[in-house]
Amino acid sequence: MLARCVERLRAARKIAVLTGAGISTESGIPDFRSPNGLWQRREVRESITRSCFFHQPERFYRYFQELFLPWTDIEPNGAHRALAQLEQKYGKWVAVATQNIDGLHQAAGSSQVAELHGHLRTAACPDCGAVYDMAEVRQALDQKRTPACECGGVIKPDVVLFGDSLDPDTWVKAQVWMQQADLIFCIGTSLTVTPANTLIDRRRRDSALIIINLEPTAWDDDADFVFHEKAGELLPRLVGQLDGQFF
Ligand code: APR
Repeated sequence: MLARCVERLRAARKIAVLTGAGISTESGIPDFRSPNGLWQRREVRESITRSCFFHQPERFYRYFQELFLPWTDIEPNGAHRALAQLEQKYGKWVAVATQNIDGLHQAAGSSQVAELHGHLRTAACPDCGAVYDMAEVRQALDQKRTPACECGGVIKPDVVLFGDSLDPDTWVKAQVWMQQADLIFCIGTSLTVTPANTLIDRRRRDSALIIINLEPTAWDDDADFVFHEKAGELLPRLVGQLDGQFF
């Protein structure tokens, strides 16, 4: 199966990728729904929401500071780097639609990244729209203050929380990428969250679908290739074979 998959990858001209938390677990970031996933803790699941942010910002920020802010100091792994290599070394058109807020695809060198669920670089005031660097949020939290805007509002990280809607431009861009691609990778996502999980249904009929996920997903039967393996181990091997003449 790997050899046939490499052949399909070699022939691909436009590659669209949908990634989730599973692509970053080998960088030390937990995912959400695996046995050790973040959402296994009910108080975390109920605190990192839009409603908790607006009604109990201190509680929201307690968990946000503990669990999410440390992600800004983490390195990409072999899976992120292999995707960047497809572009940098093999000259493929590669577009990554990610559900992750960790910025690791860009850190690995991917140039086309749509962050469906936001990112950890900035925050904004929901009242007046003022934008802040996440460093200012971090500073307030380190001083045991709830990050406040000059207008008096509470600053909200530019992360899509449960109850928030996606940025329309980012969403449209990701859909267009899926429609343009002749090969789709779906990596490290349980495909249980909408609308992100509907993205791969936007793909062209003649496109190939490759799923890499430790656990089965509801789309496995639709895929041309399914690997229930660690992305950080499999992807470098798969991409590395593009060099090889012999298998
Ligand atoms: N390699 C491949 N797959 C992995 C790896 C790995 N190293 N580690 C974990 N996985 C798989 C798990 O088996 C799981 O099915 O990645 C999947 C991660 O799924 P979730 O935890 O549900 O994360 P994700 O799909 O990204 O969640 C989507 O839900 O909670 C919201 O906003 C949050 O963006 C997130 C969205």
